[in-house]
Amino acid sequence: MSALFETYTLRDVTIPNRVWMPPMCQYSAAPEGPDAGVPDDWHFAHYAARAAGGTGLIIVEATGVSPEGRISPYDLGIWNDTQVEAFRRITRFLVSQGTVPAIQLAHAGRKASTDQPWRGGAPVGAEAHGWQPVAPSAVAFADGHPVPSELTAAEIQEIVGQFADAARRALAAGFEIAEIHGAHGYLINEFLSPYSNHRTDEYGGSYENRTRFALQVVDAVREVWPDDKPLFFRISATDWLEEDGWTADDTVRFAADLRAHGIDLLDVSTGGNAAGARIPVGPGYQVPFAARVKAETGLPVAAVGLITEAEQAEKIIANGEADAVLLGRELLRRPSWARDAARELGGDVHVPDQYHRSV
Ligand SMILES: Cc1cc2nc3c(=O)[nH]c(=O)nc-3n(C[C@H](O)[C@H](O)[C@H](O)COP(=O)(O)O)c2cc1C
Repeated sequence: MSALFETYTLRDVTIPNRVWMPPMCQYSAAPEGPDAGVPDDWHFAHYAARAAGGTGLIIVEATGVSPEGRISPYDLGIWNDTQVEAFRRITRFLVSQGTVPAIQLAHAGRKASTDQPWRGGAPVGAEAHGWQPVAPSAVAFADGHPVPSELTAAEIQEIVGQFADAARRALAAGFEIAEIHGAHGYLINEFLSPYSNHRTDEYGGSYENRTRFALQVVDAVREVWPDDKPLFFRISATDWLEEDGWTADDTVRFAADLRAHGIDLLDVSTGGNAAGARIPVGPGYQVPFAARVKAETGLPVAAVGLITEAEQAEKIIANGEADAVLLGRELLRRPSWARDAARELGGDVHVPDQYHRSV
């Protein structure tokens, strides 16, 4: 029996296998008007194909808790009921395929208001549906990026409330799992790291102060997210900086705090906060960070980053390095990766009735 195709239960949710899809922005929603941030036919087809392909859990892309929280004007949002209705179509279909629907709740902070990546991804202003980004400190992400406005304590509390409202709406939209986006240099990550957080109030300076905003978001979401449903947190385990950055040691310490605040699984990525960081990218390069969190804290983890082969994924689970693997770009290439891997490894996987002749 393949470890990759064993079920996995967190709280009252059972996920049919360990092949999961990480959040991947499609930058394809309307930027303004009544349909702003609303998933459309593209999103439905995109997520439906990976569900029909046997993916055990799909984390819907970074979804803005507010219009200003989007990475680009074309991101999905979950700040109104029109968006909730449209998400229902996607969650309904995923559930019909036995795939557990999850959603990543996000605020992009100083990296907000950028163009679609295939058009260069540069910061955009009001003339191209953009806005003024916000951050813990008035420090630009990189040359060519705007200097963000420093958030006041009252504004920080407002955003905490937006995460809670977004979680309520995610529940109404039929999601079984919510993931808080604390990675890749977006708002929560910006607070965590001393590289981007230069505040001198209760939200900056010490480890306790830098983690305060993240834990307030976790508490606010956990309060509205039902006890029988899991809550994930995505982290950048390191800024990949020699000094003055967030480190793997910080991640291990923080994982224990997250667990105490009701997080059920850490989705372990890296990088994205320091534009100049050098990242040694290669097959499975982020797996050791996930494995260390699991070994040292016991918190369940998902591993991500250049996991592309069935045997490679199987070993990560069988060796106990992670509880699940997330395949990003490989699932863009091959929507039925899970079904193909199940055939290779001898695992059990969902096959739609309509495709029974392909087995
Ligand atoms: C098109 C695209 C969009 C992405 N969007 C998000 C996102 O919305 N949220 C997030 O946390 N990571 C995002 N990522 C990162 C992926 O979730 C994943 O961590 C990364 O691609 C590494 O995994 P891979 O090597 O299997 O692709 C995105 C990646 C790609 C390729």
